[in-house]
Amino acid sequence: MEKIIRGEYQEGDSFEKSIRPTNFDEYIGQEDVKENIKIFVKAAMMREVSLDHVLLYGPPGLGKTTLSHIIANELGVNIKTASGPTIEKSGDLAAILSTLEPYDVLFIDEIHRIPKYIEEILYSAMEDFKLDIIVGSDGQSRNIKIDLPPFTLVGATTRAGDLSSPLRDRFGITCKLNYYTTEELTKIVKRSAEVFNVKINDDAAEIIARRSRKTPRIANRLLKRVSDFALVNGEGVITKEITNSSLDRLKVDEYGLDNTDIEYLESLIHKFNGGPVGIESIAASIGEEQTTIEDVIEPFLLQEGFIKRTIRGRQVTEKTYEYLKIKKAEH
Ligand SMILES: Nc1ncnc2c1ncn2[C@@H]1O[C@H](COP(=O)(O)OP(=O)(O)OP(=O)(O)O)[C@@H](O)[C@H]1O
Ligand SMILES: [Mg+2]
Repeated sequence: MEKIIRGEYQEGDSFEKSIRPTNFDEYIGQEDVKENIKIFVKAAMMREVSLDHVLLYGPPGLGKTTLSHIIANELGVNIKTASGPTIEKSGDLAAILSTLEPYDVLFIDEIHRIPKYIEEILYSAMEDFKLDIIVGSDGQSRNIKIDLPPFTLVGATTRAGDLSSPLRDRFGITCKLNYYTTEELTKIVKRSAEVFNVKINDDAAEIIARRSRKTPRIANRLLKRVSDFALVNGEGVITKEITNSSLDRLKVDEYGLDNTDIEYLESLIHKFNGGPVGIESIAASIGEEQTTIEDVIEPFLLQEGFIKRTIRGRQVTEKTYEYLKIKKAEH
């Protein structure tokens, strides 16, 4: 239960696939990104060229993977997928690239985590559609050059800042995904309920939307848990009452903050006098990985104004003192 309201992808999320939108019409929100990509896709198809490479970035669970599949679908091409850390050898990359057909989409998730030397091979693949690699080892190694069909690389990352600038510059289209509004999430919840074949009242859908950290993945997970409660308690429909009581039992508060967020904020206040404090110290104090803190916990807390980032580190805001009902210590 503890990870329900973390935005990260996790094992057992295969249900995500079943509710994943497959075209632009089903993809709710991110209007600017959607409108632009729609035009670029159309133009590429009219010109009969491959779509420019696309970089999608933003916090976990906002729809990067979903959008990459939609792009391939709307282009009417295949999508091949890989993840940065699993491309270890040049052969791994060559193996994927050699399966591409003209105009296909190659989706690389967590693209900030591909090794440096793979990145360099990617440059010429992206720019000239040529693969230039060294195979074999020691005295036996040789250089091979392979022509690739025109293709579109769609890269996704939660940390655009970690991408080297030569790589970043090779993407013709860069899109930042933003947190969703309550209205958008309410629509997403209602759509998912329809796909799950469960009935939900409008006010219940809105409550789930409000408590989902502005993130579709979390909204869908909460919907699933709430529908479990509704089913077992013998209600045919998800009502406001069952939603509120289920979310309370799941310990999701009105802001969508969970135990880890609270621990993070309390630690900042109690151990570091509200900050500013460096990320390493916070990580050590709450026993979470630095990257988890930066990628998963902090973006939402920053967005909602619970913390701010200063040059000397993280600092809590008045909102946090009020929210946690803690009196500010006098100096
Ligand atoms: N715009 C949207 N409209 C409807 N549903 C969405 C939208 N965006 C995301 N979702 C839902 O949220 C879930 C998570 O989205 P997705 O896996 O694409 O996120 P992500 O940005 O790739 O996350 P990560 O950074 O962890 O890889 C999907 O299963 C999808 O059903
Ligand atoms: Mg993803």
